[in-house]
Amino acid sequence: MQNIILVTGGAGFIGSNFILQQMCDESVSVVNLDKLTYAGNLHNLDSVAPGRRYEFVHGDIGDRALVQQLFAKHQPGAIVHFAAESHVDRSIRGPEDFIRTNVDGTFALLEETRAYWNALSDEKQKSFRLLHVSTDEVYGSLGPKDPPFRETTPYAPNSPYAASKAASDHLVRAYHHTYGLPTLTTNCSNNYGRFQFPEKLIPLMILNARKRKPLPVYGDGKNVRDWLYVEDHCEAIATVLRSGQPGETYNIGGWNEMPNIEIVETICDLVDEMAGRVENSRRDLITFVKDRPGHDRRYAMDARKIERELGWKPKATFESGIRKTVRWYLENEEWVRNVTSGSYRQWMATHYSS
Ligand code: NAD
Ligand code: TYD
Repeated sequence: MQNIILVTGGAGFIGSNFILQQMCDESVSVVNLDKLTYAGNLHNLDSVAPGRRYEFVHGDIGDRALVQQLFAKHQPGAIVHFAAESHVDRSIRGPEDFIRTNVDGTFALLEETRAYWNALSDEKQKSFRLLHVSTDEVYGSLGPKDPPFRETTPYAPNSPYAASKAASDHLVRAYHHTYGLPTLTTNCSNNYGRFQFPEKLIPLMILNARKRKPLPVYGDGKNVRDWLYVEDHCEAIATVLRSGQPGETYNIGGWNEMPNIEIVETICDLVDEMAGRVENSRRDLITFVKDRPGHDRRYAMDARKIERELGWKPKATFESGIRKTVRWYLENEEWVRNVTSGSYRQWMATHYSS
């Protein structure tokens, strides 16, 4: 019954990569429900023709009447829930939208899913899945020698973004435990790849480096993240959807911990190589700026459970993934122009001036 998938937030970075992967499977149909916030971009899906296998619906996951209508019309066998406010810095400046979408929106989606699922036949109830896409940030921050986060690590979210995602994870867990809804939760580390909105570290640095603008590194640049190529993440989600055990959570990561400064230096060298180095190395553009309040020092994922139980592990190395990513941003000037208009410029001016 899973072949009609309701994807929420499918016009965003990871959601659109996921839909493009799913469309390669002729037996899958996708309904994409997205509010098209500043982070949603339908051009990511230009290569997918609307028709029998793909439909876009402009709307909010918190609009219960709309969600109910979509369930009645499409009878999805699965939901993959990406829709969220996703940028930590924005959550620090204005947490309200994060609570509205990540907490209230997920709650509304769960309520409508529960009503829909309750009315399904036994057979359809058994095969139905709701996969909730979450983050490693719910686990808080690691010390330099701590072991990576496991599925059993206690939650300790530190930013409003992380707290809102943690709240949504808990709701999903409760809907399985209390009502028997067949949920799956994935907690993933930092993604990178095509279509990522350039407010996040990697695309921001590529675009600034290309234009020879300053590269703002927070604090001492030694905060560590575990980077995963987005296509690997999408394959992991498809694997969990297919074979995951309802009620379980799966940590997904790249086994690739790197300090921010090394990421930025790598990007400088690749942009020098691909776009041409005029005088100095782009590394000279690196500028240490005021740290993010409450900045988590280190994230790392122990992704052994998904490998052991479901056979997934990342395919891309950081070297191959970052090379493809830098090239994509340099070659897709129109996409970049589209997303870096009005509201983006306003965010950059406000955030990096103070
Ligand atoms: P994104 O910000 O690029 O995209 C979010 C999408 O959700 C956008 O298309 C936006 O329009 C849509 N949206 C926002 N509010 C909505 C609402 N109320 N109703 C319907 N649509 C709405 O985010 P992303 O980076 O693609 O992340 C997707 C999911 O993966 C999020 O849940 C995020 O927490 C999680 N995640 C992201 C990363 C990462 O590195 N980017 C890592 C781990 C987990
Ligand atoms: P980001 O891409 O915002 O992801 P997250 O905060 O969810 O991990 O940031 C990744 C790391 O890069 C994080 O440690 C903050 C740092 N960073 C900078 O140093 N400068 C920047 O301009 C941005 C956006 C992030």
